[in-house]
Amino acid sequence: MSRVRVCKTADIPENGMKGYELAGRRVLVAQSGDCYYAYQGICPHQEVCLDEGFYDGSVLTCHQHLWQWDITTGAAVGLAEAPLERYDVEVDDGELYVVQASALQVAEIFAGASEATLARLNDIARREEYEGGSALYNIGDPADDLYILESGRVEFLIGRDERTTAAGFMLRKGEVFGWNAMLENQPSRIARASCLEKSVVLRLSGKETLQILDADPVSGFIVMRKLSNLIARYLTLSGAK
Ligand code: FES
Repeated sequence: MSRVRVCKTADIPENGMKGYELAGRRVLVAQSGDCYYAYQGICPHQEVCLDEGFYDGSVLTCHQHLWQWDITTGAAVGLAEAPLERYDVEVDDGELYVVQASALQVAEIFAGASEATLARLNDIARREEYEGGSALYNIGDPADDLYILESGRVEFLIGRDERTTAAGFMLRKGEVFGWNAMLENQPSRIARASCLEKSVVLRLSGKETLQILDADPVSGFIVMRKLSNLIARYLTLSGAK
């Protein structure tokens, strides 16, 4: 968790919004009634600042393609295909702070693991930032690291050369990919992963992750059960029988 001061509460107009740059990340702060809300400042559709859009005190609209969100929850409304990442807000003596959970804390497959195990996983996680267009890995590369998306958008392609096929993309904080690093006898990548826009990921060595889970069998069982659900979901989506 990190708590970062953003502004004075008085800086946010009544039923208005403002965008801020915090440690290299765009954050949107909005006021509605007596409450303040903070969200990712970049549209989950494309690289567009949400504070350049429209806000009526309850619904936020991106001016580019009119995706909309409920300001109290960040839930998608109407055309929008993805929710906004929400941050907790704390107000202290007229100063406004946002509290951001790490991608590891919101990663679905690690939900339910013990605090001690999460802390050990956090110790081995490397936070890396990539520009749009950067390849994270290619088909055939060694499958040694597991990835957790912190921000941005990652696309997957299968096949080779001009015969590649899009295999989907990820845009939600906490989504895990490159998970074959946690499987035995799966030494190489079966897809190409690249960043569609500037993206931040956490990388964890698959081998070290398994060692940490081995030392805490209860957490290990929970994580591996969630991993098998993730693989089953992937196989269903990709049409495998
Ligand atoms: S860029 Fe925001 S809706 Fe398309």
